[in-house]
Amino acid sequence: MKKPGEVFADASVYDPGIEAIVPRYDELHDAILNSPPHDRNDPVNVLELGAGTGELTTKLLTRFPKSDVLVVDHSEQMLGEAERKLETFGDRATLERGAFPDDYPAAEDEYDLVVSSLAIHHLDEGRKRDLFDAVYESLSPGGWFINGDVIRFDAPHLETVSGEMIENWVRSKGWQEDDFMDEWQASDDYDDPSTLTDQLVWLRDAGFEAVTSIWQYYNFAVYGGRKSE
Ligand SMILES: C[S@@+](CC[C@H](N)C(=O)[O-])C[C@H]1O[C@@H](n2cnc3c(N)ncnc32)[C@H](O)[C@@H]1O
Repeated sequence: MKKPGEVFADASVYDPGIEAIVPRYDELHDAILNSPPHDRNDPVNVLELGAGTGELTTKLLTRFPKSDVLVVDHSEQMLGEAERKLETFGDRATLERGAFPDDYPAAEDEYDLVVSSLAIHHLDEGRKRDLFDAVYESLSPGGWFINGDVIRFDAPHLETVSGEMIENWVRSKGWQEDDFMDEWQASDDYDDPSTLTDQLVWLRDAGFEAVTSIWQYYNFAVYGGRKSE
């Protein structure tokens, strides 16, 4: 039985697989990495929620060479892949197994930055709101939260358009339609995406300022906000 967000039964196929089913996956990560105000050489203390196999983590540790990242994920097999990949960064990466929002890791020092990619859309509205509150509490003054995720459209025809766009993308990557549908529908069972507008309001409600959407491609968006100074 797969856990929410594992996507594939075998975590070792996640990296090539996710690029085939999430259009512009690297661009979404780039938008997350380009958004924080920190300089390259700042010693940024980062929490990453739902790091999976550590793809975004690797890019983050490379982009900010003096950063440290605490990675949280509830999937043992995804963390296993991440552990291998992140070994090269030594003690700059710490891996913790847990399910947010319940196991939200209390910061010894407050986080300067909290990021997430393609993980939070598995939570229902109440748990997303609880998570946004926990993120806000854990950030240092002026710290940022940036999430790149699946969003839902209120207009049904836009959901259809997004679905068709994804199917075209998958076909262009050479995947068989049946394989794609099997994997995607199995993941769908856990999905509970919210609209971008709602999530921006919930961030405001949690106390964030400068709340904004930074990037969007159909039903994928990068958005976030800052804790007040
Ligand atoms: C689709 S993967 C995304 C991985 C990575 N962030 C990326 O961009 O490729 C989602 C990850 O979030 C994790 N996840 C989903 N919901 C979670 C929760 N409530 N608590 C902890 N981890 C969660 C899953 O185990 C999975 O590793």
